[in-house]
Amino acid sequence: MALCNKIFLSITHNLPNTTMTAQVSVSIDGPVPDVPVKNGLNGVNGIPKTNGIHVSNEMNGKPATKAALNGHSDNDFFGHSIPLNHEYAFTPRKLRVVTIGAGFSGLLMAHKIQHRFPDLQDFVQHTIYEARSDVGGTWLINSYPGVQCDVPSHIYAFPFDPNPNWSRFYSSGAEIQQYIKDTVKKWNLDRDLQLNTKVAGAVWEEDSGRWKLTVEKDGEQREEYCDILISAQGVLVHHSWPDIPGLAHFKGHITHSAHWDHEYDYSNKRIAVIGNGSSGIQITPQMANLPGTEVMNFMRSPAWVYYRVPPSKHLGRDVEDANPAYSEEEKQRFRNPDAHKEYRKGIISRTNKAFRLFIKGENNEAACKFGAQQMAEKLNHDPDLCEKLIPKWEVGCRRVTPGPGYLEAFAKPNCNLSNSPITKITDNAVHTADGNVFECDVVICATGFDVSHCPRYPIVGQNGIKLADKWAEEPESYMSVATSKFPNYFIMMGPNCLGGHGSLVESLNWTGDYFVKWIKKMATEDIKYVVPKRSVEDAFVKYGDEVHKTLVWTGGCKSWYKRNRVDGRVTALFGGSAILFHRLISDLRPEDFEIEYNSTNPFRFMGNGFTGYEMEEANDLSYYVEVADTPSSSA
Ligand SMILES: Cc1cc2nc3c(=O)[nH]c(=O)nc-3n(C[C@H](O)[C@H](O)[C@H](O)COP(=O)(O)OP(=O)(O)OC[C@H]3O[C@@H](n4cnc5c(N)ncnc54)[C@H](O)[C@@H]3O)c2cc1C
Ligand SMILES: NC(=O)c1ccc[n+]([C@@H]2O[C@H](COP(=O)([O-])OP(=O)(O)OC[C@H]3O[C@@H](n4cnc5c(N)ncnc54)[C@H](OP(=O)(O)O)[C@@H]3O)[C@@H](O)[C@H]2O)c1
Repeated sequence: MALCNKIFLSITHNLPNTTMTAQVSVSIDGPVPDVPVKNGLNGVNGIPKTNGIHVSNEMNGKPATKAALNGHSDNDFFGHSIPLNHEYAFTPRKLRVVTIGAGFSGLLMAHKIQHRFPDLQDFVQHTIYEARSDVGGTWLINSYPGVQCDVPSHIYAFPFDPNPNWSRFYSSGAEIQQYIKDTVKKWNLDRDLQLNTKVAGAVWEEDSGRWKLTVEKDGEQREEYCDILISAQGVLVHHSWPDIPGLAHFKGHITHSAHWDHEYDYSNKRIAVIGNGSSGIQITPQMANLPGTEVMNFMRSPAWVYYRVPPSKHLGRDVEDANPAYSEEEKQRFRNPDAHKEYRKGIISRTNKAFRLFIKGENNEAACKFGAQQMAEKLNHDPDLCEKLIPKWEVGCRRVTPGPGYLEAFAKPNCNLSNSPITKITDNAVHTADGNVFECDVVICATGFDVSHCPRYPIVGQNGIKLADKWAEEPESYMSVATSKFPNYFIMMGPNCLGGHGSLVESLNWTGDYFVKWIKKMATEDIKYVVPKRSVEDAFVKYGDEVHKTLVWTGGCKSWYKRNRVDGRVTALFGGSAILFHRLISDLRPEDFEIEYNSTNPFRFMGNGFTGYEMEEANDLSYYVEVADTPSSSA
């Protein structure tokens, strides 16, 4: 303390005793010197308020001299003259952050705010609103028989607490959901969570720089406010019923893959499964395996059902099983975090290398040949099935799925396939354009989701613009993480996110880190709001479209990546590799944003001219002194 005072006294005239409080380290960009930039003081505890200078035109009743005004004239062409901020530089302001949704994305945010970046505890008040009665999102919603992940389990997990105990190479939905719940409990991630609470409206208030939320619980609505709104509300959330005449008149049992009815006994029934996306591909064999069922899978277009990298390659042992179980020895090995990391790294390296298959041309053509062979073998080279089921467009154009047991199911006498368009559904049957009628007791719609990205409640940004209107034609975002005209609105799994290859959870994790960088910057630099520039967003979208032309997602298929169109823009996926996406969002690019400050002077965050750090007696005030360097011989 004495040292501090000495330094202070040498540069100020009137420093009374300075009291200190606990420090908070708010490092913005990771491992820069560990210099706390705030110490919790608000600058009133005897710290010089005006650096010894009264910033008024008068001093003790007499006009201020030019020297006392630091040589300034009092002209203020730019409106930058503001009273001194008495806090230490970079003192964070309190921020209320609201996250919508408690799937992987929302829970990752909880972990970041509570654990990964503990300094946030001091100035962030976080709330997660989840419409449903439990956490899990996708894995709570999709509980149909056969649901499992389609990337290896060991890379589909919270990166901060990967699970060494996965029972199989691809985990079941139930095991993933249990893991999510266990992780929530272990890390207390429901501390700030409000279940059964739906966000029903969000309106940006420009004057206060806050979001006004309408929050609904038990049918009652209330208003809440936040400075930063994070959408972790998912894309594959609202299931979509097929637009088939007569569906509503079907008298048997109707269910949807994402709204499964577990009360119903599906055995000994005639079952129509509509759709052969990833969900239909998983459900069909499960229905065919039940006693006494007769199953017809109605497809419109084929899908690649194969492994780019077979489980045996990741496991390092020969296995025939399409979804091998992990042995106790393997689990034991993974319980060593270093060994587990090595194993996960291996899978991720191979997955990232395999991304080259997604470039149109030679590599992809080779993958098509390989995939066609793999599929034909599983179809016992049945010419009719091969013709219907093996795609003629690029591997990866629609989501590739390993689909264990799907192709094999058609070898069973009780499982059949129709690719004739459904014309209508009557009270007891599905009718197709080729004149066939499949009488059935059950219709399962594995017909996907509303993938428009448009929120189902008003999110209203600057000048009254509604997000649903902005995105009505094309959902456009800035790098998937934000969108112009919607200040302080950050998006997980936004349009053009990294959802096409590898594990989404990894990229959601990076996206959370990116949001934290903004949260810290806004809090410590007196920022009212940030919003991507429309011109930059447009440039990002246009450039992404160019990259997409080279990638398989713009191939000849129809897929939800293009909002269920064949020729549409790829709206769901990032135009590029995972490595590129990671690099892009590893740093903020403030130049891409409009930044509005809380005062007319963006340097108000410099406070009283001192950092809280230097006020702590124990702190190293020469941390920037370097060790002598040695010139390298080549330079
Ligand atoms: C069946 C299925 C299998 C999948 N398998 C894989 C896979 O193997 N690998 C992979 O990488 N990806 C997979 N995905 C993609 C998967 O969606 C993501 O990996 C991930 O789970 C998304 O997490 P999320 O938290 O962003 O969104 P979600 O899990 O969709 O969670 C969003 C949450 O927000 C809540 N919510 C929405 N609106 C509101 C509101 N207005 N107010 C309050 N709460 C709201 C929802 O109730 C939900 O709980 C799969 C998707 C599906 C449908
Ligand atoms: N981990 C996994 O294995 C897994 C499992 C499930 C889902 N997912 C994720 O969720 C995404 C969505 O998968 P999904 O299978 O639920 O949905 P989807 O991929 O959108 O598939 C929907 C299916 O329904 C068909 N369909 C829609 N309307 C129809 C109609 N009126 N008549 C006949 N058929 C109709 C579609 O046919 P068309 O193709 O002809 O439109 C398509 O086959 C996946 O791409 C993946 O990202 C992953």
